[in-house]
Amino acid sequence: MNGDFAARLIAWQRLHGRHGLPWQGTKDAYRIWLSEIMLQQTQVGTVIPYYLAFLERFPDVVSLAASDIDSVLRLWSGLGYYSRARNLHGAACEVMARHDGIFPRDRETLESLPGVGRSTAAAIAAFAFGAREAILDGNVKRVLARHFAVAGFPGEAKVAHQLWDIAEAVLPRQGIAPYTQALMDLGATVCTRTPACERCPVHDTCQARAQDNVAAYPGTRQRKAVPVRTTRMLLLFNQGRLLLEKRPPVGIWGGLWSFPEVSMDEDVVSVCEARFGLVVDAIRPLPALKHSFTHFTLNIHPVQCRVRTDCRVADSAATQWMDPDYAAMEAVPVPVKKLLVRLKAEPGQATDHL
Ligand code: ADE
Repeated sequence: MNGDFAARLIAWQRLHGRHGLPWQGTKDAYRIWLSEIMLQQTQVGTVIPYYLAFLERFPDVVSLAASDIDSVLRLWSGLGYYSRARNLHGAACEVMARHDGIFPRDRETLESLPGVGRSTAAAIAAFAFGAREAILDGNVKRVLARHFAVAGFPGEAKVAHQLWDIAEAVLPRQGIAPYTQALMDLGATVCTRTPACERCPVHDTCQARAQDNVAAYPGTRQRKAVPVRTTRMLLLFNQGRLLLEKRPPVGIWGGLWSFPEVSMDEDVVSVCEARFGLVVDAIRPLPALKHSFTHFTLNIHPVQCRVRTDCRVADSAATQWMDPDYAAMEAVPVPVKKLLVRLKAEPGQATDHL
């Protein structure tokens, strides 16, 4: 029944799939790898300008590996999931050190690079080298779970295993690249959360549809409530400049420049004195903002602080007084960028006028 699953997808992709994306029409493994990493958690439309800017600055693996991580993070700023940028840089260094600057061609070796999981490795191997490998990203899980009525939550090992088996079993003998693109395109444009089954090239063999129960696939996890954390961010102003701290290399926002944080029950003035030796002579709370991570929500309470002008913290690798416009162009977390943009939009807030 599903013998021509792949053939129908390939034919559909030619007419209705996405063409002319900046990473299509190349077999350069570096460019394909970069696109697949950027596309891991981010939509095509968001990725395109970042991808082009990144390639302009780092046209090949040699230039990326030779760069410092801060320049990479700066180009990544705003895309989120910054461990991708750190892994990207680490993988480039590894390709130089362990593979003579040449990308591995086989899926298993690609998978040994930091940040490259099985599905990403398969996509690179298929697009760059025509390897007959199966992908299984979130979109493809949805397509296969529906078409083959695989019940259960794909985050569970048993369900994922079934889906991988199917993904491999339906691979075409020829045309792996257009087939892989077709699966991605179908998942992104037709077999979406609210699917357009009438436009689907395989709707007549879709088992979820035959059951009239497309909405049941893929199964979902019983959601636990996402925990909420609260923090206070200090916007310490001294003569128009803001104090930013570089976060430790690992953990949330690792390696990015951010505002100093204190817990909600700490006294802002005493913490500034104790931690930085700064005398704060006026403070003003700013409107709160919320930032969602996969595993928790962060409620941020910004506080604008005026630092007495004779107080300085020496600039160092870990703390710097930055002009707000300059800070906005540095590698900063999304909510920090939002706060900087807010300050710019309300210049009355921007300095010492509390
Ligand atoms: N999502 C992941 N990889 C992709 C690709 N190569 N094209 C479009 N969307 C994608």
